[in-house]
Amino acid sequence: MKEKLEQILEEAAQEIKSAMSVQDLDEVKLKYLSRKGELNSIKKNLKDLSDEDKRVIGSLANNVSNQLEQMLEDKNNELYKIELDKKLLSEKIDITLPSDFRPQGKIHPLTQTVNEIVEIFQGLGFSVMPSEYSPEVETEYINFDMLNFPPDHPAKDMQDTFYTKAAPNVILRSQTSGAQIRQMLNQKPPVRVISPGRVYRCEAVSARKNNLFHQIEGLLVDKDITFGDLKGILNEFVRIYFGSARPTRFRASYFPFTEPSAEVDVECIMCGGKGCRTCSGTGWLEVLGSGMVHANVLKNVGIDPEIYSGFAFGMGVERLTMLKYAINDIRLFFNNDVRFLKQF
Ligand code: DAH
Repeated sequence: MKEKLEQILEEAAQEIKSAMSVQDLDEVKLKYLSRKGELNSIKKNLKDLSDEDKRVIGSLANNVSNQLEQMLEDKNNELYKIELDKKLLSEKIDITLPSDFRPQGKIHPLTQTVNEIVEIFQGLGFSVMPSEYSPEVETEYINFDMLNFPPDHPAKDMQDTFYTKAAPNVILRSQTSGAQIRQMLNQKPPVRVISPGRVYRCEAVSARKNNLFHQIEGLLVDKDITFGDLKGILNEFVRIYFGSARPTRFRASYFPFTEPSAEVDVECIMCGGKGCRTCSGTGWLEVLGSGMVHANVLKNVGIDPEIYSGFAFGMGVERLTMLKYAINDIRLFFNNDVRFLKQF
C-alpha cells in the first residue's frame, strides 16, 4: 500500500505539472482527491490493516493528500497568473493609434446666443428667472391684461396670437413679458432678473418671420431706478454683445407696459452706418425694446409706484443671432440642416 501511495503521489504530481488549464486541474482533483478518487479507495481499505499499519499508512495517505492539495493550489495560482497575463496582453491598447472618427455634436446657434446673453447679464448682476414663472402656454390675462394692454389692442387679435381650445383665454404666449408679471407677483423688489424662452405668433412664415421664435426678457425693479440706469445697462449689454466699437442709439417708441419706452438701435453691421438693404437705408438696426415699467403694471402686481420704479427690456434671439453672423433667413434656424448648423 505504501508503494501504491507513492505511485499515486508520483502520477498525480506528474499530471498536475503537465496540466494546461484550470479544467485539467479539476480533473486531476476529481481523479485523486474526490470521494470516489484513488486516495479515498486506499483509505477505505485501512480497516483491514493492523493497528500499527493503519497508523503508518493512514498518516502517509493524509500526507499524500495534503501534498497534492498544496500542489493543486500552487499550480492553480500559476495557471491563473498565466491566463491573466494572456488576457492583459490580448486586451492591450495602443494609445498612440488615431481613434475612430465620431461626428461631433454642436450647440445650436440660438442656444449659443442665449447662453452668451445670459452670461453677459449675469455679469451685470442679473439672475435667471425660475422657469415656472415663464410658461409657454399662458393666459391672455398675464400675457396682455396685466401688462396694461387695452382690451382692444390689435396684438390681441386672432391674427397675431395663437388661441387654444384648452380653455377660453388660454393662448400660446406672444411675448416673454408675461414673465415679468409672474416674477413680481412672487417676489417683492429688489428684482433683477432675465428670462429666456420661446414665443409664438400667428404670422405667415417668411425669411424674416417664423411663428415660433425666442426672446429674452429683462426686469429690474428697485428704489430710485431711472432711465439713466436703463441706458447704462443696455449700452453695456450691446457693447459686449456686438463689440465696443459699435455706436448705439435710444429711439423713443411705444409699448403698453412701459412709459417712457425706447427701442435700442445699433449701427448697421453690414454697411457701418452708410445705409444698405439690411438696415433699409437708415444705417441703424433695431436690436431690442425697453422702457421704464409702467405705473399701472406695478400697481397690478401690488408694488407701490410711489416707492419703486424699474425698467424692462425684451430682445429677439433670432434677430440678434442673424445680425451678429449676417444670416439672412430665420428659417435656417429651424430646418436643422447640418451644413448650416456646423458653422457655429
Ligand atoms: N414684448 C415686446 C415684444 O415682444 C418687447 C419688449 C419691449 C419687452 C419693451 C420689454 C419692454 O420688456 O420693456 O415686442
